[in-house]
Amino acid sequence: MSVRRLAPAEVQPKEFAFTAENLDWAKKQLTKFPEGRQQSAVIPLMWRAQEQHHGWLPEAAIRTVADMIGMEYIRALEVATFYTMFLLQPVGKKAHVQVCGTTPCRLRGADALFDICHKRIAHEPFELSADGNFSWEEVECLGACVNAPMALIWKDTYEDLTPETFERLLDGFAAGQPPKPGPQIDRQFSAPEGGPTTLTDKTIYETASAGGDNDGAALTDNKAKKPTKAASERESPVTKNPKP
Ligand code: FES
Repeated sequence: MSVRRLAPAEVQPKEFAFTAENLDWAKKQLTKFPEGRQQSAVIPLMWRAQEQHHGWLPEAAIRTVADMIGMEYIRALEVATFYTMFLLQPVGKKAHVQVCGTTPCRLRGADALFDICHKRIAHEPFELSADGNFSWEEVECLGACVNAPMALIWKDTYEDLTPETFERLLDGFAAGQPPKPGPQIDRQFSAPEGGPTTLTDKTIYETASAGGDNDGAALTDNKAKKPTKAASERESPVTKNPKP
């Protein structure tokens, strides 16, 4: 992994301010933490700032967030430079492609994905493509090794990639119609390719399914529990101050 530094001064905006809508949202986030613990909102606030600022986080935004939560600039900078989810220099307008280069993804074909990045986007990480629409970088394990190789674009992971499906993924972002995130082969979430290989005897579910709506060994995608709103959008539970 490369050293993570702020973009050079010549590309840094002088100022950053949240839009009115994002400022409202940010203030609401601060109420989700116990009094005196507002610094815990550093990650969601910087993430929202990055989304607002064309997908990358300038130094002025890091300082703005730090001021809002009463955090020293150096500590906010430490957070921004630690997590690869924060992009510290200008990135492609349509997609910044973070390809996992850790061992399981390498063993399952990530090298071919990097070749495509070199050929199709730019030779160097964070170098913009000729049209300014794409950029790429290598990142460490993103936790989807079970469906390696994979890439993260903005908030979504694209898994079980092959050179062909990776090219299609880039075509989709170029056309403004990205494919459905998740496995790009016929696989349910992280279940085995081709369907379940264990607990396939339907009779073992008969008791469990009586009175319920589960009529088989495996849930289909339509029946599986769906994630609700992102944690940052949900109502916060009642907070309790830690005991002194
Ligand atoms: S090794 Fe690539 S996601 Fe874990």
